[in-house]
Amino acid sequence: MGEKTIRLVRGLNLFDRELKIQHAGDYLCIPLNDEPLPAEIKELKRSLPEFEISTHRFSERTKSSPKLVDMLEGKLPPHLLASAPHAIDFVGDIAVVEVPTELKDHKKAIGEAILKAHKRVNAVLAKSGTVEGVYRLREFEVIAGVEKTTTTHREYGCVYHVDLAKAYFSPRLSNEHNRVASQVKEGEMVVDMFAGVGPFSILIAKKRENVKVYAIDVNPDAVEFLKQNVAVNRVENKVMPILGDVRQVVREQLIGVADRVIMNLPEKAIEYVDVACEVIKLGGGIMHYYEFTTTPDPLETARVRLSEAISQTNRNVKKILLARVVRATAPFTWQVVVDAEIQ
Ligand SMILES: C[S@@+](CC[C@H](N)C(=O)[O-])C[C@H]1O[C@@H](n2cnc3c(N)ncnc32)[C@H](O)[C@@H]1O
Repeated sequence: MGEKTIRLVRGLNLFDRELKIQHAGDYLCIPLNDEPLPAEIKELKRSLPEFEISTHRFSERTKSSPKLVDMLEGKLPPHLLASAPHAIDFVGDIAVVEVPTELKDHKKAIGEAILKAHKRVNAVLAKSGTVEGVYRLREFEVIAGVEKTTTTHREYGCVYHVDLAKAYFSPRLSNEHNRVASQVKEGEMVVDMFAGVGPFSILIAKKRENVKVYAIDVNPDAVEFLKQNVAVNRVENKVMPILGDVRQVVREQLIGVADRVIMNLPEKAIEYVDVACEVIKLGGGIMHYYEFTTTPDPLETARVRLSEAISQTNRNVKKILLARVVRATAPFTWQVVVDAEIQ
């Protein structure tokens, strides 16, 4: 029975491979990486009439999955082993890596090693080039497995259909999506100015009964996926996808509507602070502002830049609620968020 349960949980992509399966009395406790969705609960109930979802403290697995560098031993010239990629991003059943220039001739071996080490991965993509353009896209090369860039990714109980080549999505922002969504209160009106395939908007709608989210993006492919994701996650009555340039959309239909505005376009959000100020209700609201910074004091730089941009509108910063580093994006480059109360 235990084996069957583990197989089923793995099959649903719910198994947390970092934690140890444990026995507690007559129970077998299997660590999950996410809260199961209603459809998954149904599937579990169908196959396992006697199961329970509960909170349990698990210990970490001491034996971690084999390191890529170990798996590549004998397959790469020894002097190149140290350059093997350390970070792998998992988006659904796709693994994404950055292959350093000196390993370009060995990318197939790297891809095959990743496929072998991670059973739920069906395609391995190598990043080629940087994230560019208005739609914030990058090119990928399939280096092993199935020739595809589309997949279905789970994050905090939501499901996202994505095409990494056509619309921006990064699993590295999952904690940030959750952090912002957790702050939204019942009854709020939210404007997600650069919504992509919907990871802020949809999670907010999933977490709260009574919210409205305007989810705007200028990339038609992103909005197509956003619409699909709104439907799959059953939040049609709370999330309104809008295709268009946010400046135009706000000026035509969303002046003064928002209690909260999300500005996740770090390379250019500063240019849209005036728009965010227009979208926030006259009585005030919260702004989640993102930027990339390379200065020695990224948080202070972001705080100052945002405050200066707001001072050029007819609004004021009532309080800076938080400034934190979301992630490092390159050596000495950070994505930073500033949460500010605007009046
Ligand atoms: C960094 S992505 C963020 C996507 C999403 N918020 C997330 O966390 O995955 C920025 C998005 O802004 C969109 N974008 C860029 N300029 C825009 C504009 N002027 N108006 C609306 N959307 C825009 C891009 O198409 C892209 O999908």
